[in-house]
Amino acid sequence: MNAPIEPAVQLRDLRKHYGGGSDVTALAGVSVDFPAGSFTAVMGPSGSGKSTLLHCAAGLDEPTSGTVALVGVPLAGRNETELTRLRRDHVAFVFQSYNLMPALTVWQNVTLPALLAGRRPDKEWTRQVIERVGLGERMGHRPGELSGGQQQRVAIARALASRSAVVFADEPTGALDTTTAREVLHLLTQIARMGQTVVMVTHDPVAASYADSALFLVDGQIVRHLANPTAKAVADELAGLAPRPQAAPHEAAAYDSAGYRAHVGRHAMTAGVQEGTARR
Ligand SMILES: Nc1ncnc2c1ncn2[C@@H]1O[C@H](COP(=O)(O)OP(=O)(O)O)[C@@H](O)[C@H]1O
Ligand SMILES: [Mg+2]
Repeated sequence: MNAPIEPAVQLRDLRKHYGGGSDVTALAGVSVDFPAGSFTAVMGPSGSGKSTLLHCAAGLDEPTSGTVALVGVPLAGRNETELTRLRRDHVAFVFQSYNLMPALTVWQNVTLPALLAGRRPDKEWTRQVIERVGLGERMGHRPGELSGGQQQRVAIARALASRSAVVFADEPTGALDTTTAREVLHLLTQIARMGQTVVMVTHDPVAASYADSALFLVDGQIVRHLANPTAKAVADELAGLAPRPQAAPHEAAAYDSAGYRAHVGRHAMTAGVQEGTARR
């Protein structure tokens, strides 16, 4: 009955150490599954390893040790060409710095990943996504003609339009006004309901409340997991994090085995449903 489904992203004992002059441990043993169709908020103080976690999970950065599997494919031992292909086919990333192509228009930026992957862009969905992020009137503009918040919305539209299995977003609503942020968060919940997996770093408890679970990182370790987080529960948790020196190792382990298993069950119904059901 409960056939095991492959998590969209699986991290096992992920560690990242920066040597050289800095000698920093950015990730200190992170194990977690992100089931297909889940929407997870990653939270934690500045410097706790959130961006590093996203970059390693997306195959943009190599962990010092531990393993990453994306849509069931282990990343270890793959060369740059293979990694590029895997990312192109399965991953969309909204960077803190938007990474738009300055010479291309909004429309061209948003449809570029599909073209690079040899797919024909879905014009209707692309138009919908661009309109939903509030840029319907600016499809022919170039990034240089847009504000920072507008550029971020282009980056978000680009990630959503691609319909990748996994969307990683590093503080996607940080530069947006409340109304646009809400629209973007609603879009993220919608694409997760359609079967895409969303992993979003945010500082904002309200943004995190749109996710169906929230992870809290401190010093490169997962110290807490909240299922169905409310803004208040998240804010309380964040307030309590500051004095906590470090996670007890058993907490992360307990979270890993129990928390997400319930989650997988909950999402098994929607996994794999890519489109057609949730465009309401
Ligand atoms: N390229 C790098 N070289 C050295 N240290 C780094 C590098 N990238 C991140 N770090 C360090 O790793 C830790 C985690 O960084 P990061 O993942 O960016 O945290 P967050 O996104 O939670 O603010 C920080 O101490 C940061 O200074
Ligand atoms: Mg960061």
